[in-house]
Amino acid sequence: MHVAVAGLGWWGRQICAALADSDVVRVVAAHDPQVELSGAGIDVRLVETFDELLADPNVDGIVLATPHSLHDAQVKAAAAAGKHVFCEKPLSLTAQGARASLAACRENGVTLGVGHERRYEPGLERIARMAADGTLGTIVSMDANFSHDKFKAMDRDNWRLRKADAPAGNMTALGIHLTDLFISLAGPVETVYARSARRVFEPPLEDSLSVVLGFHSGLTATFTCLSTVPFYGRITVMGEHAWAELRDYSNVDVDEPAILTVRTADGDRDETALDSAETVRMNIEAWARAAFGQDSYRFTEEELVGNIDVLEAITLSAERGAPVAISELAGGAHA
Ligand SMILES: NC(=O)c1ccc[n+]([C@@H]2O[C@H](COP(=O)([O-])OP(=O)(O)OC[C@H]3O[C@@H](n4cnc5c(N)ncnc54)[C@H](O)[C@@H]3O)[C@@H](O)[C@H]2O)c1
Repeated sequence: MHVAVAGLGWWGRQICAALADSDVVRVVAAHDPQVELSGAGIDVRLVETFDELLADPNVDGIVLATPHSLHDAQVKAAAAAGKHVFCEKPLSLTAQGARASLAACRENGVTLGVGHERRYEPGLERIARMAADGTLGTIVSMDANFSHDKFKAMDRDNWRLRKADAPAGNMTALGIHLTDLFISLAGPVETVYARSARRVFEPPLEDSLSVVLGFHSGLTATFTCLSTVPFYGRITVMGEHAWAELRDYSNVDVDEPAILTVRTADGDRDETALDSAETVRMNIEAWARAAFGQDSYRFTEEELVGNIDVLEAITLSAERGAPVAISELAGGAHA
C-alpha cells in the first residue's frame, strides 16, 4: 500500500522510520505545515497542502499523526477522497466524532486503522490469549499504570498540554491505550469515575489521572497515568484461575525486555522476559492488509467507538468530580 503521512512531528517521524523496512506499506508522500520542505530530514516527497495528499492518485491511504482536534475533519476528508485512513489515537475527542468518522469510512468503502499498537506487544498478546482460552478463568479485576515524563519540559503552549486537544491530564496521551486494552479484554464500559489532579505542574495544567471503570459485565478496572515521573508501565489482569502481570521497561527511546509474570491458583509462578516487537509497523501493516481484503483488522468498530465513549466520559467525570455513565453522553452508545 502506498501511504501519505500527515504530520511530521515526533510521532509522524517515528511512523516513517517504523515503515522504512516494510514490505507491505510504503510512505510515498508527506505533509506538515511546520516542516521546512527542504529540511525535513525524511526521505520522502513533501507536499505543501493536505489536499494535495488527498488528490494524489498514487496514494492509497492517509496516515494521520496530527494534533487531536484535527482528527475528525481529516478522517472525514480522507474518506471522502476515497483513501483508506490510519488515524493516530485518539480517533476522536467525542463519542459523536468517533461515530461520524466510522460512518464516513463505511460510506466511502475505506478501511479505518487506529494507532493502538500496544495490542501487538508480545506480552499483551499472550495475556489476550490466556483470557480467550480460559487460562485466566473469569476476569475479576484489572489494574494498570502507564506513566512518563516526556511532556514535563514541553513549552506550556504546546498543543499536547492544551485542554482542547488533551482533556483530563494525560488521558489522550497514555490512558487511551490502557482503556483500549481493557475494552479488548473485558468488553464495553458502563460507568467511569475519574480524578485528574496536579502535583508538580503549575495551574491550570494537570499531571495525574486516576480512573475507576465499571464494565457491563460487572468487572471493575482501575488505572493511573502520571506525567511527571520516570517511565513506568504495568498492566495486571486478575483472573479466578490465574493472574498475569506485564511490566514494561521499554518505551520508544529505551529498548528493554518486558517481564510477564503469571501466577496460577495451584501456586505456580512463571516469569518470562519478552523482547519488544515492531508494534507500530505491525499495526499499520495489519490495517493495510485489511484495506486490501487480505485479513480482518484486530479492532472492531464497537471497540473503537467504545473507547472514545470512555474518553469523553472520563473528561466529563474529571470536570464534575463525580461518576459518569456512558449512557449520559450525547453521541454515545445509548444516545
Ligand atoms: N501511538 C502512540 O503511541 C503515539 C505516541 C505519540 C504520539 N501519538 C499521536 O500522534 C499524533 C501526533 O503527536 P506528536 O507527538 O507527533 O505531535 P507533534 O506536535 O510532535 O506533531 C504534530 C505535527 O502535526 C503537524 N500539523 C499540524 N496541523 C497539521 C495539518 N493540518 N496537516 C498536517 N500536519 C499538521 C504539526 O505541524 C506537527 O509537526 C497525536 O495523535 C498523538 O496522540 C501516538
